[in-house]
Amino acid sequence: MRDFKGKIAFITGGASGAGLGQAKLFAKEGMKVAIADVRLDALHSAVSEIVEYAGCNVADVMPLCFDLTDRKAYTSAADTVEKVFGGPPHLLIQTAGVNSFGPIEASTFDDFDWVMGVCLDHVVNGLVIFVPRMIKAYGGTDGVAREEFHVACTSSGGAFMAGATCGPYCAAKAAANNLMYSYADALAPYGGGSTVICPGNINSNIGDAEKHRPEHLRNTGYHVSEGTMAHLRSVHATGIDPIELAEILKEAIENGRIIALPTKDIESWEPQLRGMNGRIEDYLLTAPERQKIMEERMAEMMRNRPERDNPGGWEVPEGAERFGMARKDLDYIDPSKKPQ
Ligand code: NAI
Repeated sequence: MRDFKGKIAFITGGASGAGLGQAKLFAKEGMKVAIADVRLDALHSAVSEIVEYAGCNVADVMPLCFDLTDRKAYTSAADTVEKVFGGPPHLLIQTAGVNSFGPIEASTFDDFDWVMGVCLDHVVNGLVIFVPRMIKAYGGTDGVAREEFHVACTSSGGAFMAGATCGPYCAAKAAANNLMYSYADALAPYGGGSTVICPGNINSNIGDAEKHRPEHLRNTGYHVSEGTMAHLRSVHATGIDPIELAEILKEAIENGRIIALPTKDIESWEPQLRGMNGRIEDYLLTAPERQKIMEERMAEMMRNRPERDNPGGWEVPEGAERFGMARKDLDYIDPSKKPQ
């Protein structure tokens, strides 16, 4: 997709961070932009920010307040967009996400349901609701669309890792990546495209996500406090700027890239990527060959691993607490995984 002017975008998580950056950028490209988010106050200020940044008409920015895991609400938001903007989105960007850190063995159903609900289920919801509408409105045959259309998702570097302190998140992101690859294959004959962007760290408000966790999913196994959130905020403050990230996504969409890996230190990911993909190669090896290769890889990973890729290795600012620990009262958890 190369021509954005006058077209419609639907961006989830558009009230903050990466989603807000995308909304600003695509509004500036002349798109009508619908932003979906669960936080009404943040949506209001996002609309003003988008109008100011893009210099666009306020009528071309539509805030939609609902929980993206609610399929009925998502469907009625899609109907509203079609009615008000005159059609389904040409560009669907699903960016909303939450994160929560703690040992996977301490995770509760609520931890899984919240994180995987927002990071994976909402992506499924948007694809199921919008893709048929997009194909009907814009799809062509033999790989040529009647009007350009594209689906995108903001995933994470976590998609390529298996993190002992962010298991539900990594699982959701890995599945989201896989889905986007399937949609790339499925949409190509209609002339549509699919892109998944996997950032490393974004300067956003995700460190505060726990504050907005729904009441019915608050039974967490993790140690969550103002202090752990302060630590997370200090980590994310060093991340990529959301507008810069949106520009990388736009370039990927324009050039039909299925995946974009915007991270300053992509080389440092190599051992992790090799580690994950290497599991299949390893399966084909004999036991001693496997042992030798695993030891070499582990040594290489430990040598090259930057401190800041290790949640436990981040410097904890004064007054903050380290994140990624278990709730204090869990009696089966290794004491080193509990806060002091
Ligand atoms: P953010 O917290 O600034 O923005 C996320 C938005 O999603 C918030 O406005 C929030 O209200 C909204 N949201 C959360 N749950 C929702 C729900 N159930 N329904 C509707 N809206 C909901 O965070 P950020 O960092 O901009 O996150 C955007 C995406 O980037 C997420 O998918 C995240 O996993 C991903 N990501 C973030 C990284 C980071 O370092 N911040 C790194 C890699 C990926």
